[in-house]
Amino acid sequence: MDWGMKNRMSRIFKSDGKTVMLAVDHGYFLGAVSRMEEPRKVIEPLIPYADSLMITRGILRNCVEATHNIPVVLRVSSGNSILGKDLSCEDIAVSVKDALRLNVAAVALSVYVGAEYEHQTLMALSRLINEANDYGIPVLAVTAVGKELEKRDARYLTLSSRIAAELGAQIVKTYFCEDFQDVVKACPVPVVIAGGPKMKDELDVLRIAYEAIRCGARGVDMGRNIWQSRWPVAVISAIRSIVHEDASLEKASALFEELKQAR
Ligand code: R5P
Repeated sequence: MDWGMKNRMSRIFKSDGKTVMLAVDHGYFLGAVSRMEEPRKVIEPLIPYADSLMITRGILRNCVEATHNIPVVLRVSSGNSILGKDLSCEDIAVSVKDALRLNVAAVALSVYVGAEYEHQTLMALSRLINEANDYGIPVLAVTAVGKELEKRDARYLTLSSRIAAELGAQIVKTYFCEDFQDVVKACPVPVVIAGGPKMKDELDVLRIAYEAIRCGARGVDMGRNIWQSRWPVAVISAIRSIVHEDASLEKASALFEELKQAR
């Protein structure tokens, strides 16, 4: 890895090699998603607890102060919406030049393996990597499943994560699943997990974070299960303890309960 690439990676993955990324990029296809109607109010209090922000350029420019020294993982794919026919119909929508202007630590794009627009998204990933490599910018590939949440099993996620890594992605973001260690084992680049749609119980969120780290994930890149919770700071703090302090599930759960009460 060239110095610039290494330096950017080290801004995302802390000295222990792990990361807690906060995903707030959902609006690119979901619009004003529940509890993210006013991004500034939601994002600002969580910044001190996040190692990086995964975000769109519109929300970054309008809702995050440029004085924050938080690494930015910029969502650069889009072109779809929740009302459209097929969520896999995405392409690169933000230039690497604009990403550089925003001083990003990485750029992010979704691939939809096995979906209608699989080829388009895989070629978009390849083009993005070709261009971002020229400037030492890491690419995070999201193994997206669109509305087909049932796709989230080890066989599918191993296939899509590995394809993303084979094409040259420096980071892969995927979902937690049973036998998650198989997904990690077959993916030669750092793997982080998304949280997926909001779960009923915050303790289930801590459980998947804990299990994912135990299986070799290098961190989380979670959104809704943090900021759609009634206790977002308590959730992200407990996740941090799992990722960065090797906290047991019991210890992290106790921390969550303690911070929840203190709110
Ligand atoms: C898709 O909407 C985005 O890439 C999100 O960043 C990703 O799904 C992670 O967020 P969540 O934890 O809400 O699934």
